[in-house]
Amino acid sequence: MKKARVKIDKDFVVSEIDKRIYGNFVEHLGRCVYGGIYEPSHPLADEEGFRKDVLKLVKDLDVPVIRYPGGNFVSGYNWEDGVGPREKRNTRLDLAWGTTETNEVGIHEFDSWLKKAGAEMMMTVNLGTRGADEARQLLEYCNHPSGTKYSDMRIKNGQKDPFNYKLWCLGNEMDGPWQMGHKTANEYARLAEETAKMMKMLDPTIELVACGSSNSEMPTFGAWEQEVLEASFDHVDYISMHQYYGNPENDTASFLANTVDMDAFIRTVVATCDYVAGKRKSKKKINISFDEWNVWYHSNNAPFERWSIAPPLLEDIYNLEDALLVGSMLITLIRHADRVKIANMAQLVNVIAPIFCKSDGEAWKQTIYYPYYYSSRYGRGVSLDTRIESPKYDCKKYTDVPYLDCVVVENRTEDSIDGDFSGLSIFAVNRGEEDLDTTISLGGYSDLKIEQHVLLEGNDMKLSNGLGNEVVKPKKGTDANLADGNLNIRIPSRSWQLIRLIK
Ligand code: AHR
Repeated sequence: MKKARVKIDKDFVVSEIDKRIYGNFVEHLGRCVYGGIYEPSHPLADEEGFRKDVLKLVKDLDVPVIRYPGGNFVSGYNWEDGVGPREKRNTRLDLAWGTTETNEVGIHEFDSWLKKAGAEMMMTVNLGTRGADEARQLLEYCNHPSGTKYSDMRIKNGQKDPFNYKLWCLGNEMDGPWQMGHKTANEYARLAEETAKMMKMLDPTIELVACGSSNSEMPTFGAWEQEVLEASFDHVDYISMHQYYGNPENDTASFLANTVDMDAFIRTVVATCDYVAGKRKSKKKINISFDEWNVWYHSNNAPFERWSIAPPLLEDIYNLEDALLVGSMLITLIRHADRVKIANMAQLVNVIAPIFCKSDGEAWKQTIYYPYYYSSRYGRGVSLDTRIESPKYDCKKYTDVPYLDCVVVENRTEDSIDGDFSGLSIFAVNRGEEDLDTTISLGGYSDLKIEQHVLLEGNDMKLSNGLGNEVVKPKKGTDANLADGNLNIRIPSRSWQLIRLIK
């Protein structure tokens, strides 16, 4: 059996983990909102039309923050269409996805749903077809107490107290030619600078995310980040990253190695942030908002009726290997907790999502739900410097890929969301086809016992879950023991797992 070693030490801390890395994303796209979180005709809809079964699955994930309302959709969105009496709301064409938007759900309805879900808003402003003026008007509508045109409009629409949203994105994927109102780096840099400046003049307590590249393959990647940050540095707090991976060539070894790329992508963007800071002789740290990430490819090119309302779009049905990569992407985010402060799996329901539901029918958990669920619940606290010595492999896309991906989190009592415990949570993925005999040295930690060992594995990487048929779900792991300050564990081939050690 191949052998791997992992070392941590209580004193070797990467950073406190910002719980917002377990965020998610709801876009007015396909059946994410209509026929997903909201379906008034469903037998399980509450008094506001929100599906209680979907909400329960969302709440179990304990999602701290949700980005809204897009995505590509936001670049043509007029937020005013979604406020005020419903019967007077405009129906609009959404050019991003070729569908019709009824505006039945807007800011007020979504805010109410967010409160039920226990999540914070991450609002995205339209910098595609609109600009700084509309962004400040929206901010005034949401955050100003009263006595002005937009704050009074909010009050008239039934919301007396300001929503007081603290986290705002300055547009979406503005480097992408597919984006409505796509901009050159220079055009966007100036717009982001001025919009951010005005928004902070209005409410200095907010935090702002500038758009980075849509992915690491973009021809402008790197130069884009530099130019945007050089212009907007004084006014923004985060730069965004987006990345999706797929396995269209059915090459599992390369697919599972994609986090090697994600890791390098993060390091490059962090370096660019620090380069710009250095050039300005500034101590300010621009951090990362990884506000779209996931596996996405199964549903590419699925046909749908153009200009229909909430058609099934981007409805990826995930399999076991997708769950393993999602587990590894979460490990990557935790590993970079010193600079990645926000991350949003894209998206929440039906649209490339961990939760899937039938309109009129039941909701269920996709395979990727599980690593997300466990990471969100037990990946809170402190990210520890996790040194991995693992045998490596070469594949079509990458060389020198460690079979083992792993990160250790110290959970403190105050971080626990389901009971008082302190201890360690160890997240691991074995990318290889052989089991890994692994020793984890727990430097500085003693008197721990194994509390929980959850394992996601299977012989068929292509297995997925369906309605009433949740075949891919975690089981109890057994091959782990503690001896002499080490955790010894056999990590099965192509598996994801969590081992929780508590005092
Ligand atoms: O999440 C789906 C789409 O992916 C988003 O609308 C867009 O921002 C990205 O390209």
